Amino acid sequence: MKVKVVFYSMYGHIYRMAEAVAEGSREVDGAKVELLQVPELVPDAVLEKSGAKKARQAFAHIPVAKVTDLVDADAIIFGTPTRFGNMCAQMRNFLDQTGGLWAQNTLVGKVGSVFTSSNTQHGGQETTITSFHTTLLHLGMIIVGLPYSETRQTRMDEITGGSPYGASTIAGGDGSRLPSENELAMARFQGRHVATIAKKLAGV
Ligand SMILES: Cc1cc2nc3c(=O)[nH]c(=O)nc-3n(C[C@H](O)[C@H](O)[C@H](O)COP(=O)(O)O)c2cc1C
Repeated sequence: MKVKVVFYSMYGHIYRMAEAVAEGSREVDGAKVELLQVPELVPDAVLEKSGAKKARQAFAHIPVAKVTDLVDADAIIFGTPTRFGNMCAQMRNFLDQTGGLWAQNTLVGKVGSVFTSSNTQHGGQETTITSFHTTLLHLGMIIVGLPYSETRQTRMDEITGGSPYGASTIAGGDGSRLPSENELAMARFQGRHVATIAKKLAGV
């Protein structure tokens, strides 16, 4: 049973969450887990100027995804930073190349799940995830979120991401906040939960 964690990250928050999601998936017996990043679209000079080029070195070793990588997955867990309350353009561009898979019903019945990050606490994490779900439904995927059995999402004693829609992290106004242990634990839960469901569906 194969789980693919497909993400885009500019400054590393989503990458850190993706590693935690993958870790959770690996806890499920028989799960083969692969991390992939979607292709960058921003010109090198712009990345250099914003400091993203340096940040992206931390995950330069993660292979770049092709849409055909999705074909043999039982579950795909997507990670995207929030851009104006939506997924980022790099992820949109990647998904917009799945037309051929859509036409062949290739992704129908696979498990799909989404996690995100944003700079501010109420900056659109929920809309990013739920609007992403629309695309997954068009592709025929079975959407899995982060159920309230993951009780860390109800914490009130510290600021935290995480909602029934999926794991998330808050990067802070200047992007300097790293995913907290609470947020990483929810990411691991989501990875484990998706893999458990995919395993049941695969009947293995
Ligand atoms: C064009 C643009 C739009 C953004 N829109 C939002 C937004 O709507 N809400 C928010 O809180 N943060 C927003 N951000 C901040 C990103 O979500 C943040 O940089 C990202 O989650 C960090 O993840 P990363 O380190 O994996 O790139 C935006 C950033 C950019 C560059």
